[in-house]
Amino acid sequence: MRIDILTILPGLLEGPFSNSILKRAQEKGHLEIHIHNIRDYSTSKHKNVDDYQYGGGAGMVMSAEPIAALIDRLKEERDYDEIIYMTPDGELLEQDRCNRLSLNENLMILCGHYKGVDERIREHYITLEISIGSYVLSGGELGAAVLVDSIGRLIPGVLNDETSALTDSFQDHLLSPPVYTRPPEYRGWKVPEVLLSGDFKKIEAWREEKAYQRTKERRPDLLKKRDGK
Ligand code: ADE
Repeated sequence: MRIDILTILPGLLEGPFSNSILKRAQEKGHLEIHIHNIRDYSTSKHKNVDDYQYGGGAGMVMSAEPIAALIDRLKEERDYDEIIYMTPDGELLEQDRCNRLSLNENLMILCGHYKGVDERIREHYITLEISIGSYVLSGGELGAAVLVDSIGRLIPGVLNDETSALTDSFQDHLLSPPVYTRPPEYRGWKVPEVLLSGDFKKIEAWREEKAYQRTKERRPDLLKKRDGK
């Protein structure tokens, strides 16, 4: 998969993709991430990328011209499955959406700033708008990093144990059960006996029960989705 990210703050995106799983995904050739600085496409003398909003009011708006020039250039080179805009008024990101996006070949992600981008970019280029939560970030970059991480780890071959992404919280609309590692007893706190029993049927049943219990207590809304209600 190839992901192109359009930003005015490329420095914000350097860390998240050069560590751990996403770093390995790129090294193994499963994922290509290209970060583009929108400012490089500004034709104004001072390389401006924003302007005052028509109608007045506080806050700047990201100008259409440099963004359109950059998107046009990228679209000439390849077809994109989705051109995504990170925005607090977009569709709330959920696991189902991550699963579907992980099947794509080419994604483009536009990071907003200030009051947002000129609406004409949204109307004429953007195919999907995503929010990572009901709060406002200072820009779309951290949201884009969350989105890329959630998609990247689902690409076949990226995780060592391919089944482990399928047993994550939210797959099947269930949270994950509790997990433990050695030692079996620490400060008198014991690992549940069943996990040490070696009886895999019992262990599976215990995990299912705990996952269900935890979901019921913390995220009953997920159970409704699971039952198709
Ligand atoms: N940009 C600002 N806030 C955001 C959010 N919650 N999700 C995605 N992009 C954003």
